[in-house]
Order: sequence, then C-alpha cells, then structure tokens
Amino acid sequence: QTPTEATQISTNGVVSKGAEVQADGDQADLFSQSLISPEVKASLQEVGYTIRPLRKSDYSAGYLDCLRVLTTVGEPSEAAFNERYEFMASRNDTYYILVICDSKSKVVGTGAAIVERKFIHNMGLVGHIEDIAVDKNQQGKKLGLRIIQALDYLAAKVGCYKCILDCSEANEGFYVKCGFKRAGLEMAHYY
Ligand code: ACO
Repeated sequence: QTPTEATQISTNGVVSKGAEVQADGDQADLFSQSLISPEVKASLQEVGYTIRPLRKSDYSAGYLDCLRVLTTVGEPSEAAFNERYEFMASRNDTYYILVICDSKSKVVGTGAAIVERKFIHNMGLVGHIEDIAVDKNQQGKKLGLRIIQALDYLAAKVGCYKCILDCSEANEGFYVKCGFKRAGLEMAHYY
C-alpha cells in the first residue's frame, strides 16, 4: 500500500488510514476491510469465525486447500502465489477475494467477486461471483451463505447493479437459498 498524505505509518509498520488500520507485508489486506458487511462479520464472530480480505499469508493458512474442494488447484509455489496476489492487489478496485477463518486462523471458506466495467447500462458495473468454497468439514454451517451475503454487500457497495455466477445443477438450491435465480445458460469454449 502506497502511503498518502492521509496515511500514517507507525514504527511497527502498521498503516492507518482514517479509522482503518491495515498491516503491511504478508498481513496486508487485498482490499479495504470497510467493504466487509458488518452484519456478516458480527454473525460469524458469534459462532467463532472471522471474515476478512485475502492476505499473502493465507498461502500458509490453508487457502489453497480450501479451494481444493472446488476444483484442481495444482501446487503453486509461494513466489507464484505472491506474484498473482500482487497483480490483484494492484487492481484492488476489480479483484475482491475474501476468506473465512476458524478460531485457529485456518482458512475454511472463500469466495471472490470480480467487478466488470461496461459501456452498456449507463456504464454499468457487474459483479462476477467466482470460486466459492467451504472446507468439507465445515459445510452445512451457513458459511457459504455468509460468503455470498458478504460478496453481495461488497458488490452493491462498490456500485454493481447485479451479481451473476455460473454453477452446477447440484448447487442451484444453494444459490436459490442465497437469493439468486436462474437466468440464462452457461456456455464454455476450452483452449
Ligand atoms: N443444494 C441445495 N441446497 C444447498 C446446497 C446444495 N448443493 N448446499 C447448501 N444448501 C442449502 C443449505 O441446506 C442451507 O439451507 P437452509 O438455510 O435451509 O439450512 C443453505 O443452502 C445455506 O447453506 P450453507 O450451510 O451456507 O452452505 P455451505 O457452507 O455448505 O456452502 C457450498 C455451500 C459453497 C456449495 C459448499 O458446499 C462447497 O464449498 N461445495 C464445494 C465447492 C462448490 O461446489 N462451490 C460452488 C461452486 S459455484 C461458484 O463458485 C460460483
């Protein structure tokens, strides 16, 4: 994070911007904590979980393992992970990845919103919800629902007029419970 006039850096490297306090380096947040729904934060806190933006340190906190319930991840090195993280952090008005951690700070849930800027719909912004995953042992505890609620809040807050996503038939019921409805048909062309 680049310090600005309004930014103060304390001796321990903690950057504070107004009411917000952000750590530097591996503990820095991918995007502003102010975009995390206070309601979702509170309801997760009540049951012993935290929700926050992705951090570089999540490489060692189970982030990739969490994604493995969704699909093939591969074995990216920490350097490769950091490089991709930096790319996203430099576009932190576009890439929003959040994580839910358990009481031992292990990542047990994640989800992403990517904000697309259009010419149509009066220069509209559309949120694309991607890569929703909840650790196998933690499924059925409403963590998935909280992730979607948090992404909905974030997308509305940054100005999206809708969020869309692709999912399997098997997951349709989950997204319906989260307030989504079927709209259109997914098509793919793999290379
Ligand atoms: N079908 C129908 N209803 C479901 C399903 C499903 N597959 N999964 C959950 N629900 C219901 C729950 O019963 C619950 O209903 P209730 O309010 O009546 O009790 C409600 O949806 C909320 O469920 P959660 O407990 O929040 O769901 P969970 O935390 O288990 O997360 C998720 C759901 C994300 C699908 C999880 O099972 C998972 O990670 N699956 C593997 C990865 C995956 O398929 N991810 C989605 C890919 S699509 C995408 O990323 C855009």
